[in-house]
Amino acid sequence: MPKNSAYQKEALAAAKNYVTETGVVALVDSLDPTTCEATALVAAVAAMRPALLTLDDVINFAINVTSKDSAAGLAWRKLHSKAFRAKKEAKILSGVSSHCEKRDFIHALGLNTKPRSIEDFIANNPGDGSPGSFLHPRIVYRERTGEIKRGKVLADTKCRPEADVVVDEDAGYYVVQPDESVIFLNKENKVELASLRGILHDTPISKDLYGWLEAVITTACSERRDVRPNHDGTMVQVGWNAGPRHARVFGLAKSYTKTLDSQTAIDHDQDTITAMTLTWGVAKTFLPTETIAAVTDAVGETGLPKLATWNVAEGPGYRLSIGGILYEFPLYDRAPCEGLFTQNYASPSHRDPSHAPYTFSWTVAREPDSRYLPHPDPLPTHTLRTRGYGPPLVAENPKQWPAYGGGNFIDTSLKVKVIQAPGTLLAHRPEFMHGTSRLCGTRVCGMTIPFTLRIKEQFDQMVALGTHVMESSDGDNTR
Ligand SMILES: [Fe+2]
Repeated sequence: MPKNSAYQKEALAAAKNYVTETGVVALVDSLDPTTCEATALVAAVAAMRPALLTLDDVINFAINVTSKDSAAGLAWRKLHSKAFRAKKEAKILSGVSSHCEKRDFIHALGLNTKPRSIEDFIANNPGDGSPGSFLHPRIVYRERTGEIKRGKVLADTKCRPEADVVVDEDAGYYVVQPDESVIFLNKENKVELASLRGILHDTPISKDLYGWLEAVITTACSERRDVRPNHDGTMVQVGWNAGPRHARVFGLAKSYTKTLDSQTAIDHDQDTITAMTLTWGVAKTFLPTETIAAVTDAVGETGLPKLATWNVAEGPGYRLSIGGILYEFPLYDRAPCEGLFTQNYASPSHRDPSHAPYTFSWTVAREPDSRYLPHPDPLPTHTLRTRGYGPPLVAENPKQWPAYGGGNFIDTSLKVKVIQAPGTLLAHRPEFMHGTSRLCGTRVCGMTIPFTLRIKEQFDQMVALGTHVMESSDGDNTR
């Protein structure tokens, strides 16, 4: 194609003439931008000006070369509006969110709320007698005292008096009720434990969002490797890990135990990244800023990569489909490098070696066993012999199971028990002895962001050696 300027001037003049021709203007005036007539129009202009490849290009060109008061100018501007509306409708029909919908989504979740300092929480403390809320939790000053030993099975009631350590008010515990939001501080106003209730419960999309999160957790727990096979329930890990104990390699685990087709594996990995990124989002939004600063500072200058999986590479962005609309946030920073999903999971007393002073968890679903809720019918009177963790077979009387359900979080040195409830956001200190009370038939689903020491050490070592990060085929990052 000739490139000389005379030819280009001629082509430009031809294109200008074409878009202002009476017949073309009449066509443009009534043109449907989604039809093949529009495609033919683009092809006709492109034959003169090859740079004008799309209808948008042609419309912009025509608008630039016509006066807005002329018949041609009016027709092309009218087509511009029609094309804009058509694109918007196509986006809605395809189920992809618009910019406004994405903004509304973040706004509806309250994730654009300005995070607050502990000073602000103290200033807005509702005082004694009020259960508080996630925005205005009660502030309770409490110091740590002696803790119980590692590996003790914790329970809410004396349903297995010979086997369990019963954790209740009689044992000196502060019991946080399911509707109570509390931040426990030490004398230096440092957060020892935070339990905020009703997280994202009162939004227009709460029901859909919680349903989606629960489905992600149950799916993950059903198709990925259980990293705590000796404990009650299931815990699975996604993201980076330090490899199995016999072969320390910082990398991404193939955590699936089920055979999935590649697209399903990618989709389910995407879902876990989104769920964990939302967990990180609510933690950053609703917990005191000092707790977030403490964990981000702890990563140090070497840092750690953000969450990725075997099937979804490193980089920003997450997506989720709620209410038939696909929300994509391609530039949003993901959660920290690893996450845990748990279903009906409970653990005896333990500490978690961590490179950060806090662990964050979000309880998505929780339901006590309905057979043991207060009920006019008599409770079962038989004695069970349960296996679970702890002694192999222990006599148990389910009449003693707690009506408020088990699976509750217990900090043994702070002597605080948090009765679990859906919508609970918890920040706890992993280096102190803690655990979960026995489930006693309770159904519970949750997500946790730990900051595992081994992962950080392994990463730092590989960076120091200048070794490329490798992928591992298996791994247990935990403890
Ligand atoms: Fe733990």
